[in-house]
Amino acid sequence: MLKRFSLSVLLLLGLTGMFAAERLVTIHSRYLNLPIVEEGPQCKLMFRQGDELVTWCRIRLAREGEKPAYWMYYDVQAYRGEKLLLDYEGEASCLENITQSDEWVGQETVYTEAYRPQFHFSTRRGWINDPNGLLYYDGEYHLFYQHNPFGVEWGNLNWGHAVSRDLVHWTELPEALQMDETGEMYSGSAVVDYENVSGLGSKERPAMLAFYTLQGQHGQVQCLAYSLDKGRTWTKYGKNPIVDTAMKGGTWHNRDPKVFWYAPGKHWVMVLHEKDGHSIYNSTNLLDWTWTSHTPGFWECPELFELPVDGDSARTKWVMSGASGTYMIGTFDGKRFTPETGKYYYATGYLYAPQTFNNVPAADGRRIQVSWASIRHAGMPFTGMMLLPVELKLVTAKDGIRLTALPVKEVEQLLTPVLKADSLTMDEANEKLKHVATDGKGLCVKATIRLTHPTNAGLELDGNRILDYDLNFNRINGMPYSPDDFTSLRLSFDMYIDRNSIEAFFDGGRYSFTNDRKAAAGDRLLKFWSLEELAVEKLEVFTVDSIW
Ligand code: FRU
Repeated sequence: MLKRFSLSVLLLLGLTGMFAAERLVTIHSRYLNLPIVEEGPQCKLMFRQGDELVTWCRIRLAREGEKPAYWMYYDVQAYRGEKLLLDYEGEASCLENITQSDEWVGQETVYTEAYRPQFHFSTRRGWINDPNGLLYYDGEYHLFYQHNPFGVEWGNLNWGHAVSRDLVHWTELPEALQMDETGEMYSGSAVVDYENVSGLGSKERPAMLAFYTLQGQHGQVQCLAYSLDKGRTWTKYGKNPIVDTAMKGGTWHNRDPKVFWYAPGKHWVMVLHEKDGHSIYNSTNLLDWTWTSHTPGFWECPELFELPVDGDSARTKWVMSGASGTYMIGTFDGKRFTPETGKYYYATGYLYAPQTFNNVPAADGRRIQVSWASIRHAGMPFTGMMLLPVELKLVTAKDGIRLTALPVKEVEQLLTPVLKADSLTMDEANEKLKHVATDGKGLCVKATIRLTHPTNAGLELDGNRILDYDLNFNRINGMPYSPDDFTSLRLSFDMYIDRNSIEAFFDGGRYSFTNDRKAAAGDRLLKFWSLEELAVEKLEVFTVDSIW
């Protein structure tokens, strides 16, 4: 239980130069609006109700006379008509600037802000990192994510929550898991307990279970929370932690449980990052877990899933990956992953912490992945975004079986064609591209180019080189890449250009990257460039609608 300060202690602390303040608020509106400054002390703010600590954070509240850089909000709908005590280890004047309203500050202009990603998910306010608990259930895709609702930098980690019916248009909901007196809610996954093996729901009303890492005072342990109302409200399991990994192996780094159903063995599997790799645990009731094996060589955010090779469901392989998306291909018997390959990559740039959806209907059968991109949006009250959802496949490539990733088909609904042409010279293509506005909506360019000399060629946007394919060195934008048919001199790509990001997929998804979109450095034009002549065999340009 956190300590409460008496008036005399307060006075004493005041005299010794430290601060502490309290404000009792009767909640009459939906939101508390919190004025934030970018610099200055970050102090602990606790929200209490009676003896209970509702949640807490470290926050830079604006002091008397300070102009807020932006406002964050805290949803207090559940406390209407009740009293909340704001207990702050900072200056008292900060608490006076907190206001109550049924609207949060900035709500009327949300999603139209200058640097708001237009077709990538981002949070209304705050910082986001890893996607968590990706789950399809009853017509909804659930996207939970690491969320700091109290600032634009990493910290105060809650599970934020958004839902979508088509993987493209998202509605942000109130926080799913909030920080509590035990610590922060780090990454994890979610499942639906249809058979009620956990006893936390019922067969008629199956519980949604979220497995998260508690970043506590003594290390990282694995915990469980459950929801009986499709993820809208959550209860933390009374006997947490369910896997006590605190300082296991002498390390702090034991986290990010990914849980899934292993049908052949009729049991649940947890892949957990532990120290120097990913461990496997088994369970039949989702509460008691037994360690079964460990694969070294991966760092945080474990994933493990099965995919058909070349679409042949009689021939499958398992893929294990870590936070960078680098992966090994192998076999899995429910207890042990046996790698059969080295570690490969299919993406570079911003992609981080990829996770795939659980519970996608068998009739759909897709392995759908969302990753985080730590892209900053200059001057905006939000940081980071999710990359486009992609479908993963295993294909036989020139050097063996490899993973491919391409945007899910649902993304197509956002595209409106503005240009389509075949068999162009570079000059002809650039002439046509002059009519494409680059300062309006998002853009998607789908093209196949053929170099006449194995040197460099690519694309420019607003005077910045955004694609540099170097066939001399076998590189795309500096990263090694060699196409499957290395004699064709061809490269095909689908490139998605949003306000602050460029996400590109090459040769059917064999490789992709995400970069920042830089400020215009020249004419607002999209154009091909090449050291020698370049054939543009196929060119399609689309505008991309906003998802908001
Ligand atoms: C990856 C990660 C996870 C951790 C989370 C905390 O980005 O470091 O390992 O659970 O972020 O926000």
